[in-house]
Amino acid sequence: MPLKNLDPFASQLKNLNPGINPYVALMATGIEDGNIPVACGEMLKDFPGKWREKIAGFYKRPAPFKKLVVEIGCHKGHVLCKMAAEHPDTAFIGIDITYKRVVGTAERAQKMGLKNVFTVLANAKAIDMIFTPGEIDGVLIFFPDPWIKKKRQAKNRLVDVEFCKILEPLLSSEAFCWFKTDQKIYFDQAQNAFAENAFQAQTQPCEITGNAYTSIFEQRFTEQNLPTYGSKWLRSSQKFMAN
Ligand SMILES: C[S@@+](CC[C@H](N)C(=O)[O-])C[C@H]1O[C@@H](n2cnc3c(N)ncnc32)[C@H](O)[C@@H]1O
Repeated sequence: MPLKNLDPFASQLKNLNPGINPYVALMATGIEDGNIPVACGEMLKDFPGKWREKIAGFYKRPAPFKKLVVEIGCHKGHVLCKMAAEHPDTAFIGIDITYKRVVGTAERAQKMGLKNVFTVLANAKAIDMIFTPGEIDGVLIFFPDPWIKKKRQAKNRLVDVEFCKILEPLLSSEAFCWFKTDQKIYFDQAQNAFAENAFQAQTQPCEITGNAYTSIFEQRFTEQNLPTYGSKWLRSSQKFMAN
């Protein structure tokens, strides 16, 4: 069940019937008992600007994390948890709009024994309400919903000029943004949106972008011999590398 409300601070649990969606119940009790790394609704108000400390606190880590990477549309957390396992000193946040995927990602992280993963139930269109300027060191946007069935749906695509405009100031000076899609038309739209907002193409992969990190959707397209497109960007004065 996807979120309807664009306001990330709106109550996401109170008016829902946990009998209909078991993930609502899992999320509500997990959050109340403080034993699931998930944030949503009103509690999120306390997180912007403090994510590194909050995630460290949840896992009883003595010092805050130095870096913070965010995956938008984390699905069930395959890529996020793999990265998190390989980079234990970086905090990873997965954002998604469905209860099932957010809880599923948190559960995957817990099963893997990870101590650096948190998930957020929210629409990433409101990302500037969830993070403060300069707070994010890396963003992954892998295979966002392409909205290609009807021409008028194109306006629903997440990555456009407006979105890149609100994303850019949230990134630290060294931050990367890694985008992948199976739709050439979306790829071109995103390329223009990043370029128009002073993102620079990345020429030297960093520790994370230097790895393949194949997502579930990417795997599905590759298995069907369908093309995929990817680009890696940096905030301001750095350079680009296309896959
Ligand atoms: C096509 S799937 C791709 C999943 C995964 N990134 C991959 O590559 O395998 C898109 C994901 O983005 C989530 N999503 C769609 N719109 C979103 C939004 N506005 N904010 C956050 N997540 C969103 C969906 O729920 C879904 O999990």
